Amino acid sequence: MRKALVAGNWKMNGTINDVKELTSKIGLAERTDVDIMVAPSFVHMHSVGEILSGTNILLAGQDCSEFDQGAFTGETCADMLSDLGCTHVIVGHSERRQFFGDDNKRVANKARKAEIEGLCPIVCVGETLEERDSGRTIEVIERQLCAVFKMIQNKFIIAYEPVWAIGTGKSATPEMAQEVHQNIRQYSTVHSHLNGSDLRILYGGSVKPDNADELFSMPDIDGGLIGGASLDSESFLKICCSAAKLIN
Ligand code: PGA
Repeated sequence: MRKALVAGNWKMNGTINDVKELTSKIGLAERTDVDIMVAPSFVHMHSVGEILSGTNILLAGQDCSEFDQGAFTGETCADMLSDLGCTHVIVGHSERRQFFGDDNKRVANKARKAEIEGLCPIVCVGETLEERDSGRTIEVIERQLCAVFKMIQNKFIIAYEPVWAIGTGKSATPEMAQEVHQNIRQYSTVHSHLNGSDLRILYGGSVKPDNADELFSMPDIDGGLIGGASLDSESFLKICCSAAKLIN
């Protein structure tokens, strides 16, 4: 059985006080029926980790370097994240791919570094609107996954995030998301060492409390990677409730 997982990607938001307040509210959720995770910015990681210590809320990085420690100004490597208590790290988010040049090879290298440091990578895949409109959704996603399969040996988490749905308020329909998730599961079984039926596949892209139920009732959606709605504790925790109710 795949346990539900809801991860909040806080991106580059908030003052330290905002983030501490948000963390304290989320930290009150004592749920064992859904895994809850937050990914604060690097500068807030330590404070967030302190507030969450003793809770079962998981901590993730939003990205990591493809390099080990050394002279790489501005970078944060995977072992620094695990040192701060992270168990997971997001790699290949479409904002990294779009604005910071993270191509499939670099994403795969980052996932590998994470794995070596004992972090579970959350690998984001997804198509642009143009790719969807030209019928290339599956082809694009398979290429993104294939690069990672070549590098990674252990289990990891996949987040399907259609680029056109991120931060736009335009979520994929549950049927659209289900079709891609099912495809990812089948593709992973055939083309990797992973057993597709064990693989946790999250959906991300404009998930809100009012569409979470319909998305999470799809058989191949195991949770969500939440951006905007994760910055509000009430919305985020409602989404966690939907996941617990519908996925387990
Ligand atoms: P969104 O972001 O929920 O604001 O669309 C999702 C993400 O970027 O992971």
